[in-house]
Amino acid sequence: AQQSLNATNKELPMSRKPLITALAFGSATLAGGASLDFDPAQYSEKTVTVNGETITYRAYENIPYVANPVDAAHQTINIYIPAAYYNGGSINGYTAATAPIYLPNQIGGYMPASAGVPGASGFGPKKEGADAMQTALAKGYIVASPGARGRISADGKAPAAIIDLKAAVRYLKHNDANMAGDAGKIISNGTSAGGALSILLGASSNAPDYEAALKTLGAADAPDDIYAVSAYCPISILDHADSAYEWEFHGVNDYEKIDIRQIDYHVERQLQKGTLSAAEQQTSADLKAQFPAYLNSLNLKNADDTPLTLDADGNGSFRDAVAAYLGKSAETALKSGQTTAAQLAADHPWLTLDGDRVTAVDFAAYAKTIGRQKTPPAFDALDLSSGENQLFGSASEDKRHFTAYSQAHSSIAGAGMADAATIKQMNPLHYISDKTAPQHWRIRVGTADRDTSHAIAVILATKLANSGKTVDLAMPWQVPHSGDYDLDELFAWMDNVVKNGQP
Ligand code: DHB
Repeated sequence: AQQSLNATNKELPMSRKPLITALAFGSATLAGGASLDFDPAQYSEKTVTVNGETITYRAYENIPYVANPVDAAHQTINIYIPAAYYNGGSINGYTAATAPIYLPNQIGGYMPASAGVPGASGFGPKKEGADAMQTALAKGYIVASPGARGRISADGKAPAAIIDLKAAVRYLKHNDANMAGDAGKIISNGTSAGGALSILLGASSNAPDYEAALKTLGAADAPDDIYAVSAYCPISILDHADSAYEWEFHGVNDYEKIDIRQIDYHVERQLQKGTLSAAEQQTSADLKAQFPAYLNSLNLKNADDTPLTLDADGNGSFRDAVAAYLGKSAETALKSGQTTAAQLAADHPWLTLDGDRVTAVDFAAYAKTIGRQKTPPAFDALDLSSGENQLFGSASEDKRHFTAYSQAHSSIAGAGMADAATIKQMNPLHYISDKTAPQHWRIRVGTADRDTSHAIAVILATKLANSGKTVDLAMPWQVPHSGDYDLDELFAWMDNVVKNGQP
């Protein structure tokens, strides 16, 4: 096998598409920029053993995906291709022509991210067993993991990371004929900030708002729509996340805060306990009061077409819908034997059970049980101390506000405000419609996650479903802020949306 691999070193046995030769037709290079043409010969061969099976793959690493990079360390993509595809082989029913492309970003905390490497990918400390990238290779996926700019550098402010992910998609589409895999079947994945960007990448497929920035970077001249989206605990809808957080946690005055500046998946999270001051409790009340009008302005509808709304106190059908996801989570955990009715009664007094059915969810008591992690405003901090303040900074002003409330109540003299166009480009809701390209969406956020309100995932899923998209949202029982913890289910979903179109 080794010999025939080497023998086919320079050619892909693909009959689906003609090979484009960059030399003959002119390469996608802007003046002075690097080539954006994939070079099939530039690889090293690697192996990984997943569930006792050894997979050989070609590693194409540190490839610049824009012609004019401004952050050469992060604007690169790593591409991994199962070696079987160079021998006319097939894996899991896929071939060199049909294999989907798994696109996991490594972004956490809106920090700069390097291109992912199999065995060292994902969010948080390394877990046992194969990671998502290794699992993808074993299941016959092409793996393409882009790096992206992040908030700590002057050129990494919003919307830099989403521009970079879109440029990476354009690179893959530009090279579709010259690379194994089907660039019409790109499936994005990410966790937390990376989950938010995964959703934004799908939502903003081919949106003109990002065109100028992509041109400036010398992104490949290709579309940037993707096929499907997976996201874990997306820290999304940032410009309304403060009021959503207080809608969930108002009344919970004790907190366990984590220093957002330390969120980088290589760094330990540091918890700091405290109680909200009177002023912070007032801020919480102010922000909670904003949420119903915002939620109602979205005109969301339930599956049965009834409106999802909130009254001025934050009660109503939308709150019931969020609570229903929590109740369903407990029922699923009971059925799978992950917990027992006795345990639920002892540790989760917010649930009312009838046998193994949840008959009521006390949402306020739920918030008390999981506990508050952030002080109000959770995202647009009045003293500009949050990671998101830095994300919405500019080259000349490292940290800025991005909501009217925090700008008006700022404790920092002369603090600036991000411009409306940038704030819009970071919020996927502005781009989701029946014309949004990806049909298939999978969102997971654990019931023990306190990094943002559970309303965020429900708003995203509902807006997508109301726009005719196929959405799989669940809240795994007792799972904290994390991702890639259910790889069997994740890849079963991916195989299903690729092979059957509909889950
Ligand atoms: C992440 C977590 C947060 O609480 C946040 O506000 C932004 C990003 C993260 O883990 O990526």
